[in-house]
Formats: sequence, structure tokens, C-alpha cells
Amino acid sequence: MRPQLQLLAFDAYGTLFDVHSVVTTCEALFPGRGGELSRLWRQKQLEYSWLRALMGRYVDFWSVTEEALTYAMRTLELDVAWAAEVMESYTQLELYPEVKASLGALSAYERVILSNGSPRMLNEVVSAAGLTGELVAVLSADEVRSFKPDPRVYALVLEGGLDRASIGFISANAWDVSGAKAFGFWTCWLNRSGAPPEALGFSPDLITTDLEALVRYLGS
Ligand code: LAC
Repeated sequence: MRPQLQLLAFDAYGTLFDVHSVVTTCEALFPGRGGELSRLWRQKQLEYSWLRALMGRYVDFWSVTEEALTYAMRTLELDVAWAAEVMESYTQLELYPEVKASLGALSAYERVILSNGSPRMLNEVVSAAGLTGELVAVLSADEVRSFKPDPRVYALVLEGGLDRASIGFISANAWDVSGAKAFGFWTCWLNRSGAPPEALGFSPDLITTDLEALVRYLGS
């Protein structure tokens, strides 16, 4: 049975925006190393966000991303003098190809972004990608100075007055889907990379490979 949803909350990085589109810049600066830099950078960015949330030592996601890049560049023995240039690529991430049309096709629902990104970095990528008109709000974890999967971040979506059961949360990050499911949202995991499921005990309600499949499911 289809869920009775009123609002769809989308994760940003990895879900709407391809974080690995930074490979182009990384590869131009460090030929042959772009892929590994991008992978280690993303992995460390997530780790640092969770560590800072646990430590109660918040800095915003832009700073977390900078710190993770410093770690990744040092680990791979790349010249950190280029870090600012690499960071700049984070403001120009590419949308996955089906995102814009799919968000448009879901206009029967209120659509928001709920992301760990800082307000400034989210607004930059959202407006550069021309998504502003598709969203009623861009919600940032910065408001509660923590990061998903802290339940206080998912709770930001409830501020519009809806109850948890009428909210669908969509993310390509399986850990994020687990957090949202534990919080009580209906969840869809966009398994874009063919990853194995998390073994945390919170299964997604729907698993798809892209947003077009979600559109078909909710529209059926
Ligand atoms: C986001 C990242 C962590 O919250 O994927 O957008």
C-alpha cells in the first residue's frame, strides 16, 4: 500500500548533488589521484561530522569539509596549498541527471532539502543548479548545531506542523536513511552505487536506484 505522504525531505549531498563531481577539479590538479582524493575526502567528511556531533564540538559543515580535505590531502601526500581551489569545487557540484525533472514530477508534495550542509553552501549549490523554485525550504542541520543522524536534525522537518508518518525522507546515504527511519519517517534509499544495506536494524520502506523510480512508485 502506498504511504499517505504530504512532504518529501531530500538529503542533498550524494542524493541530489553528486559529491564525486569534484573529481574533475581534483584530477586536473593531481592527475591520476582525483578518484582516491574524492573518496577519502567524502569518507572523512562524514566521519568528522559524526565525531564532532558526538564530542559536542560543532563547527559548520563547510569547516568539517575543509578539515576533511586537509586530512585527505596530507594522507595522500598532496600539496595542501591547493586546498582552497579544491574546496571551491564543492560550491559547483553537479546535479544527478534525473533530479530536476523528478522533483518537478513530485510537485503534489511539499519538497524540502534536509542536509548537514551549512545554509550558505546549500543555498549556493541549490541556486547554481536552478532548484530554488522546486523547494519550499532548505533545512540545515546548522540550526541545531549538530549533524544527521542526530534526531534533533530530523526533527527540524516537524516544525511545519506535520506528523512523522506524513513525511517521506529520501537519501542515497544508507546511514542517513537508517537515522530517518529510526526517527519515524517513511524512507526511501536511493542505492545509486549498488551498496549493501546497512545492518543497523532499520530497513528502508523503499529501495530504488534513482529518483525516477520514486516518482513511478509514488505516482502509481
Ligand atoms: C547531507 C550529506 C551528509 O546531509 O549527505 O547532505
